[in-house]
Amino acid sequence: MTKAILLSHHELLNDLYSFNLKAFCDVDIITCHKIDDLPQALADNPEVSLLISLGQLDEQDAPVMAFKLAKEAGLALPMIIIGDMSKLSHTKKVYTLPANLNIPLFIKTCAKILGITAKDMAAKEVPEFYPIPLSMLRNFTKAPCDIYIKVGNEGPHEFSQALQASEELKPNVKLDSYAADGVLNLFIPSSMRLKIVNQASEIVLDKLEDTTLTDQDRVAVVEQGYEVIGGMLGENPKVTPEIVDLSKKCMESVTEVLNSVPKLKHLLGMMLQNKTGHLYFHSVVGTYISRHIIKEISWGSEEHAEKLSFVFYFHDIFLAPIFAKYPHLHSEENLVFQEGISEKEKEIIINHARLASEMVKNFPRCPMGADAIISQHHGTSNGMGFALEYKDDISPLAKVLIVSEAFTDELIQFKNAGRKPDLEEIMGRLREKFPKHTYKKIINCLETIRI
Ligand SMILES: [Fe+2]
Ligand SMILES: [Fe+2]
Repeated sequence: MTKAILLSHHELLNDLYSFNLKAFCDVDIITCHKIDDLPQALADNPEVSLLISLGQLDEQDAPVMAFKLAKEAGLALPMIIIGDMSKLSHTKKVYTLPANLNIPLFIKTCAKILGITAKDMAAKEVPEFYPIPLSMLRNFTKAPCDIYIKVGNEGPHEFSQALQASEELKPNVKLDSYAADGVLNLFIPSSMRLKIVNQASEIVLDKLEDTTLTDQDRVAVVEQGYEVIGGMLGENPKVTPEIVDLSKKCMESVTEVLNSVPKLKHLLGMMLQNKTGHLYFHSVVGTYISRHIIKEISWGSEEHAEKLSFVFYFHDIFLAPIFAKYPHLHSEENLVFQEGISEKEKEIIINHARLASEMVKNFPRCPMGADAIISQHHGTSNGMGFALEYKDDISPLAKVLIVSEAFTDELIQFKNAGRKPDLEEIMGRLREKFPKHTYKKIINCLETIRI
């Protein structure tokens, strides 16, 4: 077995280097936290093939000292130095890597020194990955399996291992540092997806039972439920009893929160603080807007409001795994044109309304007509594609949904521009976008919304 010695007191770095060198090159790392530990490590592992050292350790020039100690032990070892801090950095005797955490470069350099070819590395099975929101992972006390982080855009080193199975997650400095860096998703091997999604679903259900949850936390937990359901349906579009239980509980919780927020402003504030993902933001805020329209419109009833809550929850659920993979995206219409979207994903995007409409038909006690509204939510009557022009021949509730979504999208644009929403400006744009009389009536109901 190939071994390397790493001189570093940086726990996060040590873990990441060790996991990944093992995963990609099958090299075991022995860590020395201080230079004094090195003689013993060298004595215990005379077969070691590589020294890796931070440029400085405890304000000492660790590489210079390590070089000397290895020589004394009769070992002529190649050395990688991380950073510019050593006198040996950038000299011909060593390989110098930048101090920033560049795992692919680190792996590539180690492989080159150790004579490991790309073919050897490809022969090691690298699993396919599936995104898991960091917020969802926070619910687990221990890592349910090996967890990875996305470090590049392509190639075999696109993912690097971030956490080990069974690693303690409460607390976990690595998770905290990823969150602080704005990482939204980590990744699990696809083969573990179903098992973990089921576990996550139980955790979410338990949490929602907690009557002491604040509205803000409740909204955050429901978001995890939403992601879990999206993940399950992405795997298999069949409605299972687990999906029914979890989504019912989530929908009840959303209604509870929406009934308690006095103004749209409060809801937006909560979601902003939670760093809510685009799809869920748009689903919950859209529900709020649609409830306002139903309250104002002459023919509106509580039954309509409930139907729209159901519809809003599920209408884009098939897009959840795609948005989870591309968390920086903010538009459904533009999703197909994004770089890196696969043919299969494109097909799901184009058909997401139809897929959701067919799925909810199998939902026990699905509100009457909810499937048709979902199918029409991009203005086409067959649930395929996106309408360029909003016509009259769709159901009135589908129009309420479309207008509510458009209003929500306007709010998102204000949010992205860092501006406070301006109702008059939004109303003007909606009237322009939906010139037909039947839509205008619906838009007028939003004159009274408090933002
Ligand atoms: Fe939508
Ligand atoms: Fe949609």
